[in-house]
Amino acid sequence: MTSQPQSPAPKFPDARILGIESSCDETAASVVENGRVILSNLVASQADLHAQFGGVFPEVASRQHIRTIYTIVEQALGQAHLSLTDVDAIAVTRGPGLPGSLVVGMNVAKGLALASGLPLVGVNHLEAHIYSAWLDWAHSQRGMDGSMIEGDPKPEPHFPLLTLIVSGGHTELVLMSDHLQYQSLGATLDDAAGEAFDKVARLIGLGYPGGPAIQQAAQNGDPHTFSFPRAWLEGTWNFSFSGLKTAVLREVQRLQLTTGESGLHRPLPVEDLAASFQAAAVDVLVGKTLQAAQAYNAAEILVAGGVSANKALRETILAQSPIPVHIPPLALCTDNAAMIAGAGYYRYALGQRDGLDMDILPNWPLAEVA
Ligand code: KG4
Ligand code: ZN
Repeated sequence: MTSQPQSPAPKFPDARILGIESSCDETAASVVENGRVILSNLVASQADLHAQFGGVFPEVASRQHIRTIYTIVEQALGQAHLSLTDVDAIAVTRGPGLPGSLVVGMNVAKGLALASGLPLVGVNHLEAHIYSAWLDWAHSQRGMDGSMIEGDPKPEPHFPLLTLIVSGGHTELVLMSDHLQYQSLGATLDDAAGEAFDKVARLIGLGYPGGPAIQQAAQNGDPHTFSFPRAWLEGTWNFSFSGLKTAVLREVQRLQLTTGESGLHRPLPVEDLAASFQAAAVDVLVGKTLQAAQAYNAAEILVAGGVSANKALRETILAQSPIPVHIPPLALCTDNAAMIAGAGYYRYALGQRDGLDMDILPNWPLAEVA
């Protein structure tokens, strides 16, 4: 007697998730199918609004979220050619983030869930950054005839996966044994990597946000001009960037006291300072990530969060890693809602449902995500 080969039951069901993100200074909404295919992805950045303050001004951020969020959600559904009845759940950032910002997205998500009867799924923002690497941008584009792009989909990351989260608020090495399973190996003891880029940018007279400004200035600079310290913190998987930041400050102070032959102050060598700082930060981020991947026998590496947009970081880790490295495309490195819908899909698929009494968690470590 012969039996037909049985195809294994799909582990994850088909579902479309509406994602909402408002944890810092980006108001964003997106619809994602099956955790990978982006049907729409809207981001309203407030960066210009905060540039005058040299950083995010929380009250201004909160008020601006209120002004834009409904339009952004409507546009996200509109661009996906869907209405609320066509999605399966609403995922929203629960934390970490600025309380006054988080609460705007949370209340809108609750209102929509209440009105539509759709399930509500609270998502950790750091987990969402990780899931931005699952999003398959190419297969999210439709051809002229409306069909999805042909060809092999982008490979999904494989476990055990060594993950480096580098954002404006967090720098952490995390080992993932499976979907939604995290073991925190170490984190920054002081400044986050993005915070260091932002602070150093301010020190050398570049604007906000500092990361892209440093990257641009560094392109024309010599990274060997200044030998800034690398905090390796041997024997731990922790990071520290405050010493590096202070070393740049001391160098700037020294240069400002130095005068040329004419007795006048020379302009700061901004490009060389930016390049030397960036090289020191990238060395440690890449070096420790590769060491951890080896120590934990990781199959692959994933880098995510705003600083993963950094060209030097991307090129260095791709060149030096002996195992595959996943980094989201540039548009998905900084805050967006596709990543919230992406992570929300896996949480929804594995049965997470949150009540309308869910509250924001402004300080919510990834290690405490259940
Ligand atoms: O993930 P993200 O958008 O927001 C947080 O969750 O914090 O990260 C923002 C951070 C900022 O510190 C910004 O300066 C940094 O990411 N960033 C970069 C680059 N683009 C953004 N840092 C270095 N190089 C870049 N190209
Ligand atoms: Zn973020």
